[in-house]
Parts: sequence; C-alpha cells; structure tokens
Amino acid sequence: MNEPRLETLYDEIGEEKINKLVAAFYPRVYQDPVLSPLFEGDMAEIMRKQRMFLTQFLGGPPLYSQEFGQPAMRQRHLPFEITPKRAQAWLRCMKEAFEEVGLEGIPAGEFFYKRLEQVAAIMVNTAE
Ligand code: HEM
Repeated sequence: MNEPRLETLYDEIGEEKINKLVAAFYPRVYQDPVLSPLFEGDMAEIMRKQRMFLTQFLGGPPLYSQEFGQPAMRQRHLPFEITPKRAQAWLRCMKEAFEEVGLEGIPAGEFFYKRLEQVAAIMVNTAE
C-alpha cells in the first residue's frame, strides 16, 4: 500500500538540481579569497557531505544523519572562524550557484535561499 506523501521542497527541487547546485557552489568557494583559507580539505568530500546535508535539509531522505549523526551545524563549524564577512561571501557564492543552475526566480528556490540565509547567520561565530 502506498504511504501518503507530504510535498516537500525536496520533491520540487530534486536530487539532480541539488547535485548541480553543489557542483556550481564549491569551485566558487575554493576560489574566493575570503573563504579559501578555511577550505583546505578535499573538495570531493565536502561536496559529498553537502549533497547529503541539503537533501535532508529540504525534506528528502536523511542521508547526512545516517552517516554522520546529528547535523549540529553550528557546533561543527566552531573550529572555523566564521565572520559576518565570510557568511556574506558564502551566500554570494551560493547566490551565483543558484543563478547558474536555474534556482533563481522560482518560488521553491527563493524559499530555499531564505532558509540558507538564516542558517548562514546562525553559523557566524567570530566578530570581524
Ligand atoms: C556562513 C558561512 C559558512 C562558512 C564560512 C562555512 C565553512 C565551512 C567549512 C570551512 C567547512 C569544513 C570544510 C572541510 O571539511 O573541508 C564546512 C563544512 C560544512 N558546511 Fe559550512 N560554512 C558556512 C555555512 C554553511 C551553511 C549555511 C551550511 C548549510 C546550510 C553549511 C553546511 C556545511 C556542511 C554540511 C559541512 C560538512 C560538515 C561535516 O564535516 O560533516 N555551511 N563549512
């Protein structure tokens, strides 16, 4: 018997778009002079984690938690100095990635981006 399904942003945006978004985002982050000092790890691995995280963040399967447990994103970011300027740079890279993959200007994309703005603000842990 089919379970009734709640409509989620994940259903609307989908796995392929999430993959494209992450692929458009991290090359920008690694090239950004404000962000690049923080990103010394393997890009393929952070992309894999972010695909899993965003999948569950949008209401899809809890891929990140299945492998890593509680997201606890603020706590996981505490080893990195995240200033307001770095949060802005992160969001700017994300905005460009949204434009590149066509998430800009559609309601699901606008809602998704607003959620990311909220989470980015929570991640700030260091004054300028
Ligand atoms: C506000 C600015 C942000 C900065 C400067 C930042 C920076 C970082 C850095 C340096 C890492 C570790 C990279 C590595 O392991 O090589 C990381 C990991 C991660 N970030 Fe961010 N981040 C920010 C915001 C966000 C936001 C808003 C989200 C989610 C919506 C997010 C999701 C993640 C995830 C899922 C990981 C992987 C965590 C893990 O190791 O399991 N980040 N971030």
